[in-house]
Amino acid sequence: MPEHKETDTFAALEKREWAKVDVAQSYAHVFAKAADMVVPYLVEAVSAKLGTKALDLCCGHGNVASGLIRAGAQVTGLDFSAPMLEMARSAVPGAEFVEGDAMALSFDDGSFDAVTIGFGLPHVPDPRQVIEEAHRVLHPGGRLAFSVWCGPEVDTALGYVFGAIGEYGSKKVALPPGPGANDYADPSLAFKVLETAGFTDCRQCMVASEWHVTDPGAPYDFFLEGTARGGALLRPQPTENATAIRAAVVSKVLEKHGTGPEWRVPIPAVVTSAVAV
Ligand SMILES: C[S@@+](CC[C@H](N)C(=O)[O-])C[C@H]1O[C@@H](n2cnc3c(N)ncnc32)[C@H](O)[C@@H]1O
Repeated sequence: MPEHKETDTFAALEKREWAKVDVAQSYAHVFAKAADMVVPYLVEAVSAKLGTKALDLCCGHGNVASGLIRAGAQVTGLDFSAPMLEMARSAVPGAEFVEGDAMALSFDDGSFDAVTIGFGLPHVPDPRQVIEEAHRVLHPGGRLAFSVWCGPEVDTALGYVFGAIGEYGSKKVALPPGPGANDYADPSLAFKVLETAGFTDCRQCMVASEWHVTDPGAPYDFFLEGTARGGALLRPQPTENATAIRAAVVSKVLEKHGTGPEWRVPIPAVVTSAVAV
């Protein structure tokens, strides 16, 4: 049975999946081990320091907020997932966390020095609108930085899992139309959208994030249990398809990263930053 109805929209799917306590907790405790490696790059890209007023959009369990606080910033985190916000409030008591939609911010124009978005843009129906909102709430000279996972053109667990879904997944399981998961890793797209929104000095750097695992099928499990989009494609698979997808991920990890018994599986990210004009 498909997990989403024919009438489901991308926005509804994202909201429903991230509201699930088990998905949010699995993301925070397992999947995000790789996202956590990207935090120092986001913090540095916005030049966070003592007194910086920072807004962390799609803050999840508070990993980026925690890095900003360690740099001395005053941090507001925003997310629409109640279980994510509960984890963030308990993990980062020094930050303020608010429930809201990254596409329609309630903050005044020019009220922040820095905006960060850790792996949030691929989850919103209209990433351009989030970038425009980030520009609106930044004062001129304020800095934006966001991270996204690299696409399958590089060696990445994301490519192993989505490649296996493409090969062995049931064609009856499909996602509603939405933005590409890796669109904003492409500088030609990201910089154009940033410049149109009023940013300048656009830059990108790659981060060699990875998972250290003791089971070569772990990347499949991480996407199955701790993601919205990947989970919505994997959870409804019939058993024979699910078994074949996991087996294909295991083969790929063994082929690329040796026979174990431990594996460092790459899931690299791109951090893009820009300055508001
Ligand atoms: C992949 S997690 C990223 C969490 C964290 N920022 C990190 O770097 O690991 C994506 C987060 O974006 C949130 N999210 C997705 N769409 C959103 C929206 N439109 N408004 C606010 N939060 C949203 C989800 O609830 C989830 O917590």
